[in-house]
Amino acid sequence: MCGIVGYIGYRDTVPVLLNGLRRLEYRGYDSAGIAVWNEQQIDVRKAQGRLANLESLIEVSPVEATIGIGHTRWATHGKPSHINSHPHTDVHRTFSIVHNGIIENYLQLKDELTAKGYVFVSETDTEVISHLLADCYTESVFDAVQKATKRMRGAFALAVLSIYEPDRLYAVRYASPLIVGIGVGEQFIASDIPAILEYTRDVIILNDGEVAILTRDGVEVRTFEGQAVDCNLLKVDWDVSTAEKGGYEHFMLKEIHEQPSALRKTLTGRIETDYHRIKLDDLGMKVNDVKNIERIHIVACGTAFHAGLIGKTVLERLLRVPVQTEIASEYRYANPIITANTLVIVVSQSGETADTLAALREAKRQGANVLAITNVVGSSVAREADHVFLTWAGPEIAVASTKAYTTQLLGFYLISLYFAQLRGALSSIQIGDYIAALQQIPDQVEHILESFESFISYAKQLNEKNNLFFIGRGTDYGVCLEGSLKLKEISYIHSEAYAAGELKHGTLALIEEGTPVVALLTQDDLFEKTLSNIKEVKARGANVLAIANADHASLRDASDAQFFIPQTNALFHAITAVIPMQLIAYYAAWLKGHDVDKPRNLAKSVTVE
Ligand code: AGP
Repeated sequence: MCGIVGYIGYRDTVPVLLNGLRRLEYRGYDSAGIAVWNEQQIDVRKAQGRLANLESLIEVSPVEATIGIGHTRWATHGKPSHINSHPHTDVHRTFSIVHNGIIENYLQLKDELTAKGYVFVSETDTEVISHLLADCYTESVFDAVQKATKRMRGAFALAVLSIYEPDRLYAVRYASPLIVGIGVGEQFIASDIPAILEYTRDVIILNDGEVAILTRDGVEVRTFEGQAVDCNLLKVDWDVSTAEKGGYEHFMLKEIHEQPSALRKTLTGRIETDYHRIKLDDLGMKVNDVKNIERIHIVACGTAFHAGLIGKTVLERLLRVPVQTEIASEYRYANPIITANTLVIVVSQSGETADTLAALREAKRQGANVLAITNVVGSSVAREADHVFLTWAGPEIAVASTKAYTTQLLGFYLISLYFAQLRGALSSIQIGDYIAALQQIPDQVEHILESFESFISYAKQLNEKNNLFFIGRGTDYGVCLEGSLKLKEISYIHSEAYAAGELKHGTLALIEEGTPVVALLTQDDLFEKTLSNIKEVKARGANVLAIANADHASLRDASDAQFFIPQTNALFHAITAVIPMQLIAYYAAWLKGHDVDKPRNLAKSVTVE
């Protein structure tokens, strides 16, 4: 999730690129860079950190041109640094490129190109593309793009500048969004519409497998196979702020809807379907260390802690190793019992949460091996942990965490299966079955999101309510805790999440006529038990929405409304089950007119104790 911008025309390109990058800075801000053709050579400026650093650099060392590309980075492969920032070039600077996405087979390509004498300077997957284009070039840039794209696996949106055709820009799209803006005597490339709205509202949305060739006079679009494409011109009537949110009213809603693609990214390159294997060798964990794990501590705060609760169940079920999930602010002062074979897993979207970081340091001080699940490359947690699993969810702007949570869950599934594979706890056929289920999850989430309107009507019913209960058993209880947090955080409606069997030990006293209860039933072995808890609250007048993985007549009889999520492996329902809860929370807050993205009293990253 980075930002791409490109320009060819009559204006001074540097301010155009910088303006575009400023509009995209919310998508990535660990480094930024530009490359322009200055009539003699490709000139590159890049700087680590916020865009302001790049601007200061250009002030000191200016450059003039009318064609160029720019990028603002959110690191995936390789830490945030000057050397890893885009644009990347080949050694002779014949090609310069900016890239969004992930090249899954970059290590293999890197080996091949290194053997041919190409010298790599960065740790990124992107750099292989510039060398590959240089290697493929014979007669035209389009021909080089055609040959290179045949070799690349994964996701890529590219803007390409080459000395061989200094009066053209190329925009290449595969599984990562890219648009072209059409002007008079000037054309633009961008990963997102806001970057170019200042200059044009005529846009072509490229499809996967298409290349746009931009000259000052116009744009031609071809498929990777070279066939001409007849493109529809889109007239954009959004304002800049709507455009930043992709047309959604809030970042939170955008991020909820980004979950299918975020989950696909988390899976990218981590599954060898043909061999029924999970590929997480980049965690750098020694096989023996994994085999020797005797207990696991999961430590996190808030939503990340809730992901850890599900992680505990999955790890225990698959590995039969004792796991405890702890709130970081408690763990750091609890003098935890850490033995030589304890693995500590810290979970943090931002990687900067003070309590989680302190817990990590405490664990390390006591000699634990620490694995971090985080979304931010180069964050403190990522730097200080021994091993890092990156969720690749892209920047999450809304304070209420959504895509970070579901990708953390997916991270736990992948890690648990990977450990089970190394420890021989599952056969490759069993792992193959789990993998098949995992691969369906993004589509299942997409399917649920299509029903968003049902949750607007449900949220309307909550408008007058001050109290709500979420109940469930097993992993459903963990998901209820997250659903309840989401609702409280942004709608300010008080809610409690309860292990369904625990209600009658006190809380049942709070159920009265019309009290809304959301009951989660996605675990077949616990269905009857939760159903009887629904009957208990119904008997006291509750209004029950049941979210379940299968339609049962008994459930229809016992509850007031039902929503069914797609069937998958019981351990994996947590991801799909939380989607209705995120939508309920969002629409409840939206109907109340709250500032959904910035709820009162809360910050996105809590860097104080
Ligand atoms: C959830 O919506 C919150 N924003 C909050 O609970 C958050 O998950 C918690 O503060 C932990 O943040 P982290 O993942 O960045 O460490």
